[in-house]
Amino acid sequence: MGMLNPLSLTRHLPLNVRRRLEPLLELVGVLRSVRSPGAMTAMLPSIGRGFVLRQGRQAGPTRMVSGHSAHFDWTYRHDFPEMRDLYRRAKQNQWDAEVALSWDTDVDPLNPEVPLLPRDFFPLDDLPARLTLTVEEERRFGHSVTAWMLSQFLHGEQGALFAAAQVTESVPWLDGKLYGSTQVVDEGRHVEVFHRYLEQKLNKLYTVNDNLFTIIDALMNDPRWDMKFLGMQIMIEGLALGAFGTLYRMTREPLLRDLLRYVIQDEARHVHYGVLALRQHISTALTERERREREDWAFEIALLMRNRFMAHEVYEEWFEGTLSRAQWNDLVLAAPGLQEFRNVMFARLMPNLRYIGLLSDRIKGRYEEAGLLRYAAGADATRLSGNQLIHELDTQAGQVA
Ligand SMILES: [Fe+2]
Ligand SMILES: [Fe+2]
Repeated sequence: MGMLNPLSLTRHLPLNVRRRLEPLLELVGVLRSVRSPGAMTAMLPSIGRGFVLRQGRQAGPTRMVSGHSAHFDWTYRHDFPEMRDLYRRAKQNQWDAEVALSWDTDVDPLNPEVPLLPRDFFPLDDLPARLTLTVEEERRFGHSVTAWMLSQFLHGEQGALFAAAQVTESVPWLDGKLYGSTQVVDEGRHVEVFHRYLEQKLNKLYTVNDNLFTIIDALMNDPRWDMKFLGMQIMIEGLALGAFGTLYRMTREPLLRDLLRYVIQDEARHVHYGVLALRQHISTALTERERREREDWAFEIALLMRNRFMAHEVYEEWFEGTLSRAQWNDLVLAAPGLQEFRNVMFARLMPNLRYIGLLSDRIKGRYEEAGLLRYAAGADATRLSGNQLIHELDTQAGQVA
């Protein structure tokens, strides 16, 4: 944001002014850091609704208009064997959240014996001395952070449910549509389990984060199915896999661990489907100019996801008025749990961008500058099944324990 951070200048303003001004200053920071403004123009109305009007925080429902078209094919040709194979696996691996998970598990978010998150997920050691939390407060803070993350998962799952339904209508392959029908069921189940866990076990639900709202709003409003696909199946699902994996590895709460293990296995199929569809589409149906536009857009969204999920809702609850937003942002950026989450997220995302053809030499320099290119060499989603993902997370857990 340059040498002078405008966020540090608002410290002396009254709280109610700061509350409106600071998010807008942050938004200015976001817009100033955009490298390819052209790729972001289409998102401006969503940015207005998300950051300025803050529609995600309103109590009532939100209406979003989608102008995508449905693709019918009356010949029913089997046209994509790998998708057909995913469809078969998806049917075999369905699960009923009612019976698969032990909902009678007694979850006490404040029980130090079974912590939702380890203390070093988000340590508060760097807080100014006057703000030091008691042990009891630290446990409640851990409860807030977990409930905030799971609330964002839930909101993301609602977006994934609608996006899956829309792309099922729009993709040109019959095998893709059959597969898509299973993803719609999967995402419905994910909404069910996250909501139930939040409502019955954590008793806390946060509103949708402004950044997440903005991305979902942009994807819902974009009539191009491949943009919905890129945004939802690759970027947001990549983010989700990073977050689910980190939380799965770190939590000691058995019900949450089981729940995440099931969800991760579904999500691995979703990303696999996403990369198959996009690789085919990008290499055969797009002009070079259209490909470049998506490449730029993916880069901007990747940076947004890295820099902007700052848990400001938790900040407002705990430290608004005592800590500046800039100080809070520094804490979030330094938290080991959230750092690991960003690592896992980009380890999943970058190989997939490479696989689908959105990591050409033209853009590599920008990823390199952002410190993200080093993640690109890993395994893409076609080479990582749900079982392999879980196995990988379990072995890592063994290493750190
Ligand atoms: Fe999902
Ligand atoms: Fe998904």
